Amino acid sequence: MKEKRLSSALLLLSAFLAALHNTGAQKPIGGGCDGCDLMFAGMPKSLDWQTTMTDISGGEPLEIEGVIFQEDGTTPARDVILYVYHTNAQGFYAPAAAQTVARRHGQLRGWMKTDAAGRYKFLTIRPAPYPRRDIPAHIHPVISEPGKNEYYLDDYLFDDDPLLTKEKRDAQGGRGGSGIVRLTKNAARKWVGRRDIILGRSIPDYR
Ligand SMILES: [Fe+2]
Repeated sequence: MKEKRLSSALLLLSAFLAALHNTGAQKPIGGGCDGCDLMFAGMPKSLDWQTTMTDISGGEPLEIEGVIFQEDGTTPARDVILYVYHTNAQGFYAPAAAQTVARRHGQLRGWMKTDAAGRYKFLTIRPAPYPRRDIPAHIHPVISEPGKNEYYLDDYLFDDDPLLTKEKRDAQGGRGGSGIVRLTKNAARKWVGRRDIILGRSIPDYR
């Protein structure tokens, strides 16, 4: 009987904690998705809408920009943190020697906080696919909206990637809108591309 009361109390407590979590009364860090809370490890206190990755000496420069919109697709979403991380030009998540946190994300990681126009931009190097695998090259994005748990969007993928087969394109969920980016090389021989993001959308919403 005692045990039963105890387990009911525990159930009530966990329901209460879950409710707190969902209303944002607790700090919305962790628990948003598997491993994506690593976005907060080493995150600078002050964030700008644009950033440059730590070390962009080892590959072809790549700049991606866009606007993050609210679910209506037209209202800019301000104060949204976008965290991105990706492999280096050899296809590895290689941490810097002195890196003490999030080593499995490598050193090519960066954070932005959208401005009033919802803008974000990051300068990095073009990632390579994992060696000897058939997974297209990609950049992982994690979003943290004010008062919500963090979550992954569809990866940034590159339209000219031979590993991005029709089958793989069709398999994309499109969270945040399509992550397939068309890159061009500008006059300064820098790869440039654009991806706008619509929060709360996935491909079935706009097909
Ligand atoms: Fe990856």
